[in-house]
Amino acid sequence: MMRGKFITLEGIDGAGKSTHLAWLADFFRQRGIVARVTREPGGTGLGEQLRKFLLDPVSKMHAETEAMLMFAARREHLDKVIEPALADGEWVVCDRFTDATFAYQGGGRGVDWQRLLQLEQWVQRGLQPDLTLLFDLAPELGRQRARGARSADRFEQERDDFYGRVREAYLRRAREASARIRVLDASWSVGQIQQQLADIVGALCR
Ligand code: TYD
Repeated sequence: MMRGKFITLEGIDGAGKSTHLAWLADFFRQRGIVARVTREPGGTGLGEQLRKFLLDPVSKMHAETEAMLMFAARREHLDKVIEPALADGEWVVCDRFTDATFAYQGGGRGVDWQRLLQLEQWVQRGLQPDLTLLFDLAPELGRQRARGARSADRFEQERDDFYGRVREAYLRRAREASARIRVLDASWSVGQIQQQLADIVGALCR
């Protein structure tokens, strides 16, 4: 049995991840690839409960607690969903993964990068996505797009300077893992981006 591919989508809120996620899932299905779509934090019973708590605007916690809860949810997700699916030859398309922890908790909240690297090693034991699509966008544009969708969660209530740091940390991750992370300019039109996606992801299907 051929191991499936693990693809993650990243970007600041409002960068258009959800639109592209749906399109990608379709793209795979049309090619006869069984793609399991999932998300972080979440993807398991416990993970979704942690998500509720993490995104609730009334929740208060230390930034390191937040980082560890993200990784706790991730440990469950890897064990219960991601690893078994990949072993079964299914592809996994995940809405956010560890790069988001480096971006939001590392860049946004200032959690020490080295500590996050340690947690990453502990929880993933060397496992990394085969491909990460990073939808890069200026925070002002992200905010404009995200506005009005629905009430803002705990992260969406943060200001542009927070999102500026999130964006920079994402780009740092992209520099540190340039073979895995493909940066896409999310200010382009949906059609232009989908053309790029078809090229990048099509190469993976062959
Ligand atoms: P998001 O993926 O944007 O879902 P929705 O489209 O429903 O808003 O929401 C998840 C939020 O969680 C997002 O603001 C980023 C944050 N997050 C972290 O801070 N760290 C992480 O490790 C992950 C996976 C997400």
